[in-house]
Amino acid sequence: MSGTSSNSDIIRIYEDKQLAEEYIKYRPGYPPFILKTILQYMEETNAENLNTFDTMIDVDCGSGQATHMFAEHFRSVLGIDISESQIEIAYNSLDLVSCATAAHWLNLPTFERECNRVLKTNGCVAIYTYLLLNIKSSDDNHGNLQSKFFEIVTKFVNDCEGHEKSKLKGYQEIFNEINNTSKKWVSCPDMDKAYNLPSFKKFMATLGEYSTYMISNPSVDPLEQFGDSIKKLVCKDELMDNDVDFKITFGYQMILFRK
Ligand SMILES: C[S@@+](CC[C@H](N)C(=O)[O-])C[C@H]1O[C@@H](n2cnc3c(N)ncnc32)[C@H](O)[C@@H]1O
Repeated sequence: MSGTSSNSDIIRIYEDKQLAEEYIKYRPGYPPFILKTILQYMEETNAENLNTFDTMIDVDCGSGQATHMFAEHFRSVLGIDISESQIEIAYNSLDLVSCATAAHWLNLPTFERECNRVLKTNGCVAIYTYLLLNIKSSDDNHGNLQSKFFEIVTKFVNDCEGHEKSKLKGYQEIFNEINNTSKKWVSCPDMDKAYNLPSFKKFMATLGEYSTYMISNPSVDPLEQFGDSIKKLVCKDELMDNDVDFKITFGYQMILFRK
């Protein structure tokens, strides 16, 4: 995200170059299904204006991994993050509010109230996230590793004192908390991403709670034990870390509603 793009203005507010780079490199991002489903939902009430919309905001955009995908479909795309949450947005001015992998940080009643304030009539809200579902060893001789994998990931998140609504549990609770009666749960296809052990540890290190934990506990790094457990799980103890490769299956969940 560099200030402006060809078709729309993207305002970059969250600035942390290294984190931004690590996000783009190690996080799975959002498959085309997410954008396609959001645009289709918007088009249900926008028949004449196929596939091009006016204005949207991406709430808690972080490094802008989700924000980018909207650029060619909106005249103006605004990404904001926590540091600038005081930004003033005019009443009834937006076609879409998007919130990617961040709704667990929000006060949902306030978020809903604000969406109601800033959206045009029929304007849409899309809340979506991904969660770690499974690990697949490349030589595939080890059967189903899912439950053990979930235990190892849960232990890591707990060791880092992770958020109680962390994405391990998914967004079902968030769906239940939303009051808007038009709300709709969208099941999305899973996506696999290839990692080796060091790159998967880098992915886990992009978890916000991990950085916070390491600031107050610099001498105990939960990532080390996490890496050892993953290596054992895929039975590659004898290999160098760089040669320990596998695929991670990410599950995606999405909630849509409109004003
Ligand atoms: C997992 S990141 C997702 C970023 C981006 N939407 C994406 O999909 O890549 C979560 C975002 O929530 C923001 N956030 C908002 N409130 C927060 C809070 N109380 N604690 C931590 N992060 C918070 C962070 O700044 C961060 O950009």
